[in-house]
Amino acid sequence: MASSSSSYIIHFFILSLSFFSLSSLSASSKPNSFILPIKKDPSTNLFYTSVGIGTPRTNFNLVIDLAGENLWYDCDTHYNSSSYTPIQCGSKQCPDVACIVSCDGPFKPGCTNNTCPASATNSLANFIFGGGLGQDFIFISQYKVSGLLSSCVETDRFTDDSPLNGLPKNTKGIIGLARSNLSLPTQLALKNNLPTKFSLCLPSSNKQGFTNLLVGSDELSKFVQTTPLVVNPVSTGAVSVEGVPSNEYFIDVKAIKIDGHVLNFKPSLLSIDKKGNGGTKISTITPFTELQTTVYKPFIRDFLKKASDRKLKRVESVAPFEACFDSTSIENTVPRIDLVLQKGVQWTIHETNLMVNVKKNVACLGIVDGGTEPRMSFTKASIVIGGHQLVDNLLVFDLSSSKLSFSSSLLVHNASCS
Ligand SMILES: *[C@@H]1O[C@H](CO)[C@@H](O)[C@H](O)[C@H]1NC(C)=O
Ligand SMILES: *[C@@H]1O[C@H](CO)[C@@H](O)[C@H](O)[C@H]1NC(C)=O
Ligand SMILES: *[C@@H]1O[C@H](CO)[C@@H](O)[C@H](O)[C@H]1NC(C)=O
Ligand SMILES: *[C@@H]1O[C@H](CO)[C@@H](O)[C@H](O)[C@H]1NC(C)=O
Repeated sequence: MASSSSSYIIHFFILSLSFFSLSSLSASSKPNSFILPIKKDPSTNLFYTSVGIGTPRTNFNLVIDLAGENLWYDCDTHYNSSSYTPIQCGSKQCPDVACIVSCDGPFKPGCTNNTCPASATNSLANFIFGGGLGQDFIFISQYKVSGLLSSCVETDRFTDDSPLNGLPKNTKGIIGLARSNLSLPTQLALKNNLPTKFSLCLPSSNKQGFTNLLVGSDELSKFVQTTPLVVNPVSTGAVSVEGVPSNEYFIDVKAIKIDGHVLNFKPSLLSIDKKGNGGTKISTITPFTELQTTVYKPFIRDFLKKASDRKLKRVESVAPFEACFDSTSIENTVPRIDLVLQKGVQWTIHETNLMVNVKKNVACLGIVDGGTEPRMSFTKASIVIGGHQLVDNLLVFDLSSSKLSFSSSLLVHNASCS
């Protein structure tokens, strides 16, 4: 990848990753890895990538959502692709019993008759939107892939709220990476006989100058730890379907430690209850880790106590953050936070993932009160690990073995995701 921007070079997600794929000559012409560069939007703190769609090829910036069940894009009135094929109701590719019977026209992607519906979920919007399921060419790294299903939504048909609400201004949809049949990793893996596995490495906006070497798997294994991915048996999306499990990624956090001391709160909050509440999920749509209020309260109290023991100078809070400090008093000594996982595995949140520089000489703990009420969902996780805490951490989601491998911060090892 000969790109000039370093964030293009080092931060990516690889679908169905095979570390040696690029050096081995494969007999089949089928690709064995797909790489997409990731960028961060500074105003929303969300992450996006770019793919080409249709004929003529149109590039779309799409927000990365680990909880997103499919890829949906905005086929507004100006968009028309001659290679677009809507999926008809009742066909074997249509998982839905509902049907978009007809559209008033003008006919184009997003406005076709007898079309299988597909959701266009954006948890930052206030409503649930629907589009049509369709097939078109999708350009990913150097490949032109056909036969992938996506959802196309004419956003300019909606007046009250837009499916694009809350997304960065330059983005036109969402690329979903959830554990679902229509997510891009699942579709690409099935089509190319690859393991259902993808890696994600989110960039911080302000780091430059890493090289673009692909890390070999042996080298990588020194850094990564593995923990089971937990399936929440209750659907956690905006539409709750009885008996259908959540397709979001949960991990089993057993305890939170601050400077080595286990935080005291009701332990049952860390497990998922019968209604699907509780537990710990990973979200790229949540910019900063959110702790449910009953976890947040003791957490912030203990953190402030430890910070004061370490002689950090507290300053006025800067919303949405509460624990803010004079950054000249920090000098690499913020209290250490570890998430204790199954079998004693620990996810240490590195200082760069904890603190947010909000203004000159003020750094705040980038973990916020998540409240008690769910938003655009019927369930509420106790801990939502958000984007800032994932930056520069290599995450490998292996859906076939239901495991998450994570590196903690690669910066500790003088390494980057490349
Ligand atoms: C979109 O393109 C198709 C052919 O590729 C054409 O039949 C159709 O009229 C176009 N629709 C609009 C609204 O321009
Ligand atoms: C779509 O359905 C409407 C209403 O039944 C019909 O008038 C129209 O001709 C159909 N258009 C196409 C392209 O099939
Ligand atoms: C996903 O695909 C599998 C195999 O085709 C099917 O058995 C399953 O019902 C599908 N899941 C959903 C939620 O549609
Ligand atoms: C990382 O690099 C710095 C400066 O080059 C060096 O001082 C430090 O020991 C290195 N750390 C590791 C873990 O290699």
